[in-house]
Amino acid sequence: MQALVNRMGFNNDGIEQLIHHVRNSNYTGVLGINIGKNATTPNNQANSDYLKALEAAYPLASYIAVNISSPNTKDLRDLQGGDSLESLLFELKAAQQRLADEHGQYKPLALKIAPDLEPEQILAIAERLLKYKFDGVIATNTTIAKSTIAHLPHGEEQGGLSGAPVAEKSNRVIRALYSVLGDEIPIIGVGGICSGADAVEKVRAGAKLVQIYTGLIYKGPGLVTECAATIAYNCKSSG
Ligand SMILES: Cc1cc2nc3c(=O)[nH]c(=O)nc-3n(C[C@H](O)[C@H](O)[C@H](O)COP(=O)(O)O)c2cc1C
Repeated sequence: MQALVNRMGFNNDGIEQLIHHVRNSNYTGVLGINIGKNATTPNNQANSDYLKALEAAYPLASYIAVNISSPNTKDLRDLQGGDSLESLLFELKAAQQRLADEHGQYKPLALKIAPDLEPEQILAIAERLLKYKFDGVIATNTTIAKSTIAHLPHGEEQGGLSGAPVAEKSNRVIRALYSVLGDEIPIIGVGGICSGADAVEKVRAGAKLVQIYTGLIYKGPGLVTECAATIAYNCKSSG
């Protein structure tokens, strides 16, 4: 089993530092910037953190991932439903339109969700993504379900679990999203890709793109080539 417990959280030096590093780098490839609210900001003020981060990231990013699914920020996952999600998507889309006009360039927004959602929660999210014409959805973040590793050393530690144990949970979310979204909003599949076959499963579940995190640590960059080749061989392109 190839898995990591994400105890590190995703605290960093903040969006200004990130922008500073990006501006000072020579990187010219695709750049996704992942934004989340501060741990200390209550959920009823979360939108303002997301809007500030979006504004700062917008000029540099190729696309922006809106993370409402990290298990390390208390109650963050509550933003995945109800009025909180509705108002967050509404405000982000309005800001995106304003920033697109200001910068003369449209940058896609993708919502990143958890693998631990109930089927009706996933369907509700999918319907809101359609309503607000979100550009993409990233499924999924790490899981808080640890029963598969409870017997292992450190199996009881706090934090989200990534890698092999999240693969099927993430595929289940992708399938449920695809049942509503079809090809209208692209799904980016992530969670437990450790081989080309795992990547193909994500595409077969409905993903248009895949991301790899934990698999890269265990397998190294060759995994990217393996996934690209296995997808190209097994999955007929739809567009
Ligand atoms: C150490 C660690 C840090 C992570 N930090 C973030 C983060 O800051 N934002 C985020 O959206 N997801 C974060 N994730 C989740 C990963 O991006 C990914 O969605 C998840 O681990 C499932 O993919 P994987 O099984 O390929 O790792 C993190 C995961 C790990 C293990």
